[in-house]
Amino acid sequence: MEQLTKAETIELRNKHVGKSCTLFYRANPLKIVRAEAQYMYDEKNQEYLDCINNVCHVGHCHPEVVRAGCDQMKTLNTNNRFLHDNIVLCAQKLIKTLPEQLSVCYFVNSGSEANDLAIRLARTHTKNMDTITLDHAYHGHLNTLIDISPYKFNLPGAPNKPDWVHVAPCPDSYRGKYRDTKYSKNEIGTKYADDVKEICDKVKSEGRGICAYIAESLQSCGGQIITPDNYFREVYKHVRAAGGVCIADEVQVGFGRVGKKYWAFQLAGDDVIPDIVTVGKPMGNGHPVAAVITTPEIAKSFLDTGVEYFNTYGGNPVSCAIANAVMDTIEKEKLQAHALEVGEYLLKKCEELKERHQIIGDVRGIGLFVGIELVTDRTTRLPATSQAKHVVARMMEEKFLVSSDGPDCNVIKLKPPMVFSKKNADDLLTVFDRVLEEVRYEICTPVRDTIRQTCVSSAHSGLVNGIKQPKEQAIKSI
Ligand SMILES: Cc1ncc(COP(=O)(O)O)c(C=O)c1O
Repeated sequence: MEQLTKAETIELRNKHVGKSCTLFYRANPLKIVRAEAQYMYDEKNQEYLDCINNVCHVGHCHPEVVRAGCDQMKTLNTNNRFLHDNIVLCAQKLIKTLPEQLSVCYFVNSGSEANDLAIRLARTHTKNMDTITLDHAYHGHLNTLIDISPYKFNLPGAPNKPDWVHVAPCPDSYRGKYRDTKYSKNEIGTKYADDVKEICDKVKSEGRGICAYIAESLQSCGGQIITPDNYFREVYKHVRAAGGVCIADEVQVGFGRVGKKYWAFQLAGDDVIPDIVTVGKPMGNGHPVAAVITTPEIAKSFLDTGVEYFNTYGGNPVSCAIANAVMDTIEKEKLQAHALEVGEYLLKKCEELKERHQIIGDVRGIGLFVGIELVTDRTTRLPATSQAKHVVARMMEEKFLVSSDGPDCNVIKLKPPMVFSKKNADDLLTVFDRVLEEVRYEICTPVRDTIRQTCVSSAHSGLVNGIKQPKEQAIKSI
C-alpha cells in the first residue's frame, strides 16, 4: 500500500475524516505504523511503551490471534445464520468463565452495540423504561448510550439527559460524595447504594418500575474507581426490588485484567451476580467483536417478542476464531495471574512514589487497572488537572503512552496490555518520577468539562491555567 508522509496523513485526515474524531496528543499526533506485544512503533521506528491499550489485551498482534484470524479468513467468513463451530465454541468458552445462570450469548461488533442490546433486553424483560446510570459513566457512542453516559451528555453542546435516565453518584471513596475522610470503608458502599435506593423509591412512588441499573464493575472513565465493598450487593437488591435488572459493563475491565478474578464484577463476591454482562474491547485483541451474556429468562422474554435478532457481522466465524484465540491465550499464558502479580508490583511502586511526591493524592488499582490521582493539596484534594495534562504530554515525549481521565481529568490511567512486565513498570515509574519533579512546585486551577475532551489528546506546549513553567524549561530541568 502507498506510504504517506506523516504530514500527508495529517493533511488527508484533516480534509476527509470528521473533525469530531479526535486524536491522542492532538497538537503533535502520533503516527503508529506497527506494534508488537506492549510496544508501539511510529513511522521512524521509534518505540513507545503502551500503558493504555486495554484493547490489545494479550499483546499487540499476538501471533496466535493473528494466525487464528488469517486461517479462518482464508477458509470462510459469513453471517451466523449458518451453523458454525466457532460461534458455539466461543459462547461455551465465555459461559465457562461466568456464573451458571449467565448462559445465553448474543454476539455483536462493539461495546456500544453490546450495551445497546443489553438495554433493549432489559426493556423487553421488565417492560419498564427508567434506567439508572452512574455519574461520569461512559457506555458507548450509540444514541441510547449517549443518553445514559453523563461523561458525554454533561458536556456543553451535548443533548440533554432524557427523563427516563437517573444518575446515581459514582461510588468514588476518594473524591466522591461519601469520602474515606468521613466514612469507614464499610459505610461507604452502603451510603452510595442508599442513593440508588432513593432513585428506585422515587420512580416507584411515581407509579413506575425500574428497567435497568448499568455500571462498569470498576469505573474507568470516572477515574479508575475501585468500587467500595458491599456496594453492588446492596444496589442489586434495591434495583431488583424495584423490578429492574442489573447490567455489568465489563467492556474495559473484563477478561482477567483485575487479576484476582476473570470478571471485575466477581470482586464483589460470589453471591453478587448481574443479570446481563456486556463484554467487548479485549475480546478481539483489536478486532471488532463483543458480546452480551444473560440469563435464559431474559433471553426468553426477548424471544417472546417475536422479533428476530439479526446482526450481519456479530458472531461471524472470523471474529469468533479471534475471540477464541484470545481466551485460549489468556489461559495458556496465565495472563490473569500475571496481571495480579505485575499489578501488585506496580501498585507498590506507585505507593512508594506517593511518599516522595505530594502531588500524588491517591494510588488505587487492582491487577493491571491502576489510577494515580494528582492533587495540588492532599487535604483539600484540589485536582491537579493542568499538571496531569502536562504529565501525559511529557510521558509521550519520553516514549511512554499514558492517559488522564476522571471528572477533573487529573487521574493518570494505566491499563496496559496484559503482557506488561515488572521491568516495564520500573521503566515507566523511573520516568514518571522525573516528570513529576517538573510539576512539583506548580499551582493548578481546576478546569473541568472544557478541558476533558482535550486533556488526553493534546500535546503540551507548556503548562497552562496558572502554571508558570514553560515546557522547554521543564525539559531542561530534567
Ligand atoms: C465502559 C465502556 N463501555 C462501552 C464502551 C463502548 O465500546 P466501543 O467503543 O467498542 O463501542 C466503552 C468504550 O470506550 C467503554 O469504555
